[in-house]
Amino acid sequence: MWLNPIDYFAGLIERETGIVYVESNIFQLKMRLEEFCRIEKISNVDELAKMFQDQSIQLDQRQRLIDMATNNETLFFRDPKYFTSIETFIKSEILKTDPREIKIWSAASSTGQEALSVAMTLDLLSKKTPLPPYSILATDICDKALKKCKSGLYTEFETKRGLSDENREFYFKKEGDLWKANSDLLSRIKYTYNNLIRSSVYDTFHIILCRNVLIYQKVDMRKTVVDTLFLQLEENGALLLGAGETLVGIRDEIKTDMIDGISFYKKNKPSFRKIA
Ligand SMILES: C[S@@+](CC[C@H](N)C(=O)[O-])C[C@H]1O[C@@H](n2cnc3c(N)ncnc32)[C@H](O)[C@@H]1O
Repeated sequence: MWLNPIDYFAGLIERETGIVYVESNIFQLKMRLEEFCRIEKISNVDELAKMFQDQSIQLDQRQRLIDMATNNETLFFRDPKYFTSIETFIKSEILKTDPREIKIWSAASSTGQEALSVAMTLDLLSKKTPLPPYSILATDICDKALKKCKSGLYTEFETKRGLSDENREFYFKKEGDLWKANSDLLSRIKYTYNNLIRSSVYDTFHIILCRNVLIYQKVDMRKTVVDTLFLQLEENGALLLGAGETLVGIRDEIKTDMIDGISFYKKNKPSFRKIA
């Protein structure tokens, strides 16, 4: 059965990314598809749908369409309490087990501000407390966002969103009109493509940040993603979701530690209290 092209793309994007376009935001998808056609010099969305269906679309065009469907909103130290609570969690939980390395995953890193904020947090912590080597994996499905991550370059406006003057002076240097993260900070972070709904990351982590991405998915998809992420936590590791996100209704049997008001979803299930 022939779907209208907007519904066709909404279905394709959901299958490929988990991102759901519903009645309330389908107009946004329509606008984005029209803009995409204009940039790619394709006459209209019908024509674009035909190119997908007869497989004459190029691989890089397909990736640009996925990029177009994503919302990359992010900022430095988004919801600042996360970063103080990460510091507390590392000191009180992770260091207790004397790890050879601390591994953190920013699992929907967008343009890199989250991973860089974690890197600055750990660098600042290392000046107060001896730390083992640490590394941050930053992954995203959006190729364009990943390219920006890798460049380490941010506009004045972007640095003004969440970065203190002190941190900007210390960790960034001016390159023309832009600010570049210093090489020490960038060397802590590995950036790579990963699609959370069919993840190809096979490592384990002490902290996984998966913030402000599950909100775009249906509940069943969130369950699948969260189950996979839990498999990738170290025994004493924790998953962090975004400020407005919760595991309630997704994975209820879970041990949650609250640190500075932030939920740390622990890998280990709660032990049941003995009834006398
Ligand atoms: C709103 S941003 C959040 C960025 C950052 N975590 C934060 O909270 O500031 C959401 C990011 O999730 C990414 N994303 C969406 N679906 C994804 C998927 N299936 N796999 C990996 N990343 C995905 C988007 O490309 C986008 O960069």
